[in-house]
Amino acid sequence: MSRKLQAPRGTLDVQPGDARRRLRLQRIAAEVLGRAGYEPFETPVFEDTELFARGVGESTDIVQKEMFTFEDKAGRSLTLRPEATAAICRAYVEHGMHKLAQPVKLWTWGPFFRHEAPQAGRFRQFTQVDAEALGSDDPSLDAELILLLAELIERAGAGPARLRLASLGTPETRAAYVEELGTYLRAREGELSGEVRERLEQNPLRAFDADHPGTQAVMRDAPRLLDRLAPEDAAHFAEVRALLDQAGLAYELDSTLVRGLDYYTRTVFEFESERLGAQAALGGGGRYDLLVEELGGPSTPGVGWAAGIERILLASPDEPDGDARVFIALAKPGAMTAAFGLARRLRGEGIRVEIEQAGRSLKGQLKQADRIGAHTTLILGDAIDVKDMRSGEQRQVADPDEAVAAVRETLR
Ligand code: HAM
Repeated sequence: MSRKLQAPRGTLDVQPGDARRRLRLQRIAAEVLGRAGYEPFETPVFEDTELFARGVGESTDIVQKEMFTFEDKAGRSLTLRPEATAAICRAYVEHGMHKLAQPVKLWTWGPFFRHEAPQAGRFRQFTQVDAEALGSDDPSLDAELILLLAELIERAGAGPARLRLASLGTPETRAAYVEELGTYLRAREGELSGEVRERLEQNPLRAFDADHPGTQAVMRDAPRLLDRLAPEDAAHFAEVRALLDQAGLAYELDSTLVRGLDYYTRTVFEFESERLGAQAALGGGGRYDLLVEELGGPSTPGVGWAAGIERILLASPDEPDGDARVFIALAKPGAMTAAFGLARRLRGEGIRVEIEQAGRSLKGQLKQADRIGAHTTLILGDAIDVKDMRSGEQRQVADPDEAVAAVRETLR
């Protein structure tokens, strides 16, 4: 027997109701971001593997374990994008966007790929909305972006969400801090998990992420980066916080906030839903002032975030679309011609209209009208009957003009 064909592990078919909710969310994103001057932008779904190795960071889980990498026919190594920021920076350099008025504000929406173990809220193909502001290190951009993500979550109906906020400072501060942390951890090596011990030299910060109780106990007394920031970074962070305070957005300072990407400098943040389980991060991001240069461009600060569409929708209640619907039933042979014309006229007025197109009996057609949630049904026989589906009232009109007027009236 042949194998039953199914969608690949960790992927999902977006079925009509969900697809409609996604479109609605995309419209909200376009509106929220558009009002703040962010322009829609798109990059390819696959890129040179090297872009992510250099951009996201060799030591990250994403690069070490989670990339869908393949060779093209010429033997080049390509990777399905696991995130958007590195590619947007690549495009910024490639198209000389540093010559445009700064900051360059962009947003994108589309599929991303990570080879993770699938679970509720975690997929191998998922959708992100991503916003980036390149070319200025002004702290108001950090605050603005955080507020825009808060607004998106709120308007999507996915709130309340907890905002965790921190600053990572500069690489120099961080290097000194990592050294201090490394020394602290090496002195307590016996209490740490094997995985943390293995990564100790490469990235001791990951220890804050560990689920292992022994490691967690050690981390409670570990030195904190937030207490080691250089004066300029501390001032930058204070300004970001002051703007968030002024806007009335609550946040928790969390110096253990570890993001899974290596490019961050200064501000980092994450929104967590109170409604989701283990995969609660709705979205997150931060500043990456060195990434563009790292990818071969001019020194260019940047800040941005990405949010997971599937998770936002999981956390928001289902809402019916509320669109008015009209159904046209065919009560005599040959009624289709008139029905077809009438449907086109009503659609032209912005009304959602469906015609009987499956050869049902009249009784079956009225049932179908109910099934699609029609507000009004037009029954085309020798005359035209207009049935208000909510009141059940039915009256006869003489011609299509009167039918259109009657539909307008029932929808009012
Ligand atoms: P990230 O935290 O890796 O950041 O991903 C952002 C969001 O994408 C997560 O909070 C989550 O909602 C969603 N997400 C990530 N992986 C999965 C998955 N396997 N299944 C479902 N949803 C997922 C970034 O990607 C950075 N590029 C954000 C950024 C932009 N930083 C600066 N600019």
